[in-house]
Amino acid sequence: MTTLNAIRPSGFILLAFLAACGDSEPNSPCGEEPVVKADVAAAPTKAAPAGDLKPWTDLDEAAQIKYGEQVFLAKGSNTCNDCHGKDGSKGRLEQAADLTRPATWRINKVYADDKAKANTALAYLVSNGGKKFNGNFEADTPDAGWDWGKAEATAFDIQMFGVTQSSTQAAIKKIRKALKKEGYSLEKSEMTIFGTQTVLKYLASIEAK
Ligand code: HEC
Repeated sequence: MTTLNAIRPSGFILLAFLAACGDSEPNSPCGEEPVVKADVAAAPTKAAPAGDLKPWTDLDEAAQIKYGEQVFLAKGSNTCNDCHGKDGSKGRLEQAADLTRPATWRINKVYADDKAKANTALAYLVSNGGKKFNGNFEADTPDAGWDWGKAEATAFDIQMFGVTQSSTQAAIKKIRKALKKEGYSLEKSEMTIFGTQTVLKYLASIEAK
């Protein structure tokens, strides 16, 4: 039996564990505290013992950037690199933002002085795509104070799909399997947030100096 008392205070881990408990996989580490801190370099390559998986949020920065690069470079159409270019610029769509120059992004113009709000908006855009951002961002985050005037647009181009398309989802699914072998859990319900967080870390790592 799971008791909620066993769950630790961090909201992120809490969510991860609640998801683990609701999952159909029989050996999820339900309500168990991860014992060992993530050490990616030393992570075993063979499958970890069932029930011993650490949450993906324990992955260190370098590992998250590495997986973010795999999300970015997903093969197929309507992936980040397809529209934005393999190096983050000069991809298939001329109107797609230069991802090596975050200062030019609309979100960073709107929230020039507020990194936290910018990150929330970026996560929303990359998770959901431009169409949903246009229709729902302001209603979903009323405290964000979004201002299209500062964004210098009336809407995002709806071709900005973020991680929503099948080729990118397939790449995240592949990473999910690899993570399991390395001893990390990534619930199905966390795949979008995982893809978004890691790809944004990757973008931060390729910012033009
Ligand atoms: C089908 C094409 C397409 C795909 C796929 C796509 N984008 Fe975009 N993206 C665009 C376009 C077009 C824009 C410009 C939107 C605008 O300014 O109206 C854009 C804008 C952006 C911006 C700038 C947002 C801003 O505030 O100006 C970021 C960051 C971004 N994309 C990241 C990503 C990431 C990361 C992925 C993959 C997970 C991705 N995009 C997938 C077409 C795409």
